[in-house]
Amino acid sequence: MVAADVNAELLEKLSADADGLGGSITTLVGDVSSERGVETMVAESHARLGKLDVVVNVAGVLSFCHTHEHSLDEWNRLITINLTGTFLVCREAIPHLLATRGNIVNLASTAAHKGQPWAAAYVASKGGVLALTRALAVEYAAAGLRVNSISPGAIDTPITAAFHLPEGADIALINRVSPMGKFGTPEGIAAGIAYVASDEASHMNGADVLIDGATTA
Ligand SMILES: NC(=O)c1ccc[n+]([C@@H]2O[C@H](COP(=O)([O-])OP(=O)(O)OC[C@H]3O[C@@H](n4cnc5c(N)ncnc54)[C@H](O)[C@@H]3O)[C@@H](O)[C@H]2O)c1
Repeated sequence: MVAADVNAELLEKLSADADGLGGSITTLVGDVSSERGVETMVAESHARLGKLDVVVNVAGVLSFCHTHEHSLDEWNRLITINLTGTFLVCREAIPHLLATRGNIVNLASTAAHKGQPWAAAYVASKGGVLALTRALAVEYAAAGLRVNSISPGAIDTPITAAFHLPEGADIALINRVSPMGKFGTPEGIAAGIAYVASDEASHMNGADVLIDGATTA
């Protein structure tokens, strides 16, 4: 397995954790918002593994502000990492995945399914990820490539810990916590990804799996 991320420190910890559990993981530092960076990351992943079976697009960033105060720079940053990054990784990985009849799992969000205020760029980027997933699923279905997405609700990770709402924002309208009264877990999302990517899900294509504790129900 190869794990790629822009955060080298995090990758070192991941690698040490994997070693501690008796496993091993190859890590690559890279930025999904860089076309050249993604080309290198995917080529290097293929070179190290010898083939690609599953690609999971997890990299994402989130910030909140009033839309009438949203800077173009911040809009571009979120769209570029969340949506363009997903496109670039898919584009580079697809030729390898066609060779193995593999599959792609993209991380969308409940923000792509229902209105989430103060997050214009984030919701637009995740709506784009959802639409891109469906388009690729249809485009490559006959060639044996599956493309699906997972839409988590609020999950207890660094991205939610870094919530900074703008002045006057009403937390109730963000629906951070599901009607179940708790956050989901990263392990629950990982299990969902593992199922969608597995052969057991061989007829699942173009699907989006909501793991959100009834937030969108
Ligand atoms: N946690 C939630 O509540 C939640 C809900 C819905 C969707 N998601 C989505 O799930 C995915 C994972 O989020 P998470 O909760 O684990 O957050 P996280 O912040 O823990 O993980 C995001 C990762 O993306 C990496 N990253 C950021 N910019 C990058 C770049 N330019 N190139 C490469 N890597 C980059 C970060 O270093 C980080 O490791 C994201 O796409 C997020 O939008 C999360």
